[in-house]
Amino acid sequence: MLDKYNRDINYLRVSITDRCNLRCAYCRPKEGVSLKGHEDILRYEEILRLVSQAVKMGLVKVRLTGGEPLVRRGFVQFAAALKKIEGLQDISLTTNGVYLDRYAQAIYDAGISRINISLDSLDKDKYFDITGGGNLDDVLRGIAAAEKAGFAPIKINTVAIKGFTDDEVLDFARLAYEKPFQIRFIEVMPVSEVNFRHPETFLPMRRMFDIISREFSLELSNEHKHRLDGPARIFKIRGGRGEIGFINPVSEHFCATCNRLRLTADGKLRACLLKDVEIDLRDALRRQCGDEELARLIRLAILSKPAGHDLDCTDRSLKKCHRDMSGIGG
Ligand code: 5AD
Ligand code: SF4
Repeated sequence: MLDKYNRDINYLRVSITDRCNLRCAYCRPKEGVSLKGHEDILRYEEILRLVSQAVKMGLVKVRLTGGEPLVRRGFVQFAAALKKIEGLQDISLTTNGVYLDRYAQAIYDAGISRINISLDSLDKDKYFDITGGGNLDDVLRGIAAAEKAGFAPIKINTVAIKGFTDDEVLDFARLAYEKPFQIRFIEVMPVSEVNFRHPETFLPMRRMFDIISREFSLELSNEHKHRLDGPARIFKIRGGRGEIGFINPVSEHFCATCNRLRLTADGKLRACLLKDVEIDLRDALRRQCGDEELARLIRLAILSKPAGHDLDCTDRSLKKCHRDMSGIGG
């Protein structure tokens, strides 16, 4: 599926719920979010129909996100049904890990082979603060369960925030040294009314790299130089088991190679995280529209994909999109 700028759009991120069992400070506004009603959220069958159609058009990769996907009932059965769609090559999951202890094995058995776990601090109190009440031990148990279930590599998403992450960068590097995890520092983005924004909270990759280099030697592995690994820049830790990655959506735009679409929990196709253009599919799905119409709407969304976003490190606007991250899924 080529867009106007000749990018092959073959990757869909599906937010299956806007609900979450955490309240991360960079994701949700302080005053809370207004959640969609049950009826507003796409049913699993509707998502399956949409994905099947998109696969016929060239989609090969789906990532399930939220909110927190594991809070939605029936998740494992849904993942297994998704896995049966012929031509869909890869299904992955982004989770906060809180319920992973319980579900890791079942999710793995359902056919999800790749998992990203959000973890912004290795300190119990800081974790509690940034997640609005989360318990670090739940996630650590969840990560252990994912490892035991066979997920490899396990990717850990760490939002990098100046004044918060600085003093933990080395701890994360030590973790990646000891465990076969890929720890990815992600620049915080001013999505919606988040409580962090550039430039005050901008923690440059160079600075994190220097901190890690005090103790470890990072090398861009050959494998990653040649591999298309999404927007991350990945380094091996010499002598260690894991890797460190940097994802810089703000300071280093990767729009030119962006291959993704997003499906919001309430059934809108969104071609760019940071642009508020959305194509409603829920209405068509609920009208039992024909495959042709569904295909037309998917194409319309792809053609609405902008060349890029205009966010940069000096951008002071609070609100780059009218939705909260929890309704889009990052
Ligand atoms: N900026 C950067 N990353 C974010 N995430 C959520 N909100 C933001 C934001 N404002 C990331 C989380 C999670 C993923 C789904 O998106 O770290 O791992
Ligand atoms: Fe939940 Fe993820 Fe948002 Fe945190 S970042 S509140 S875990 S959806």
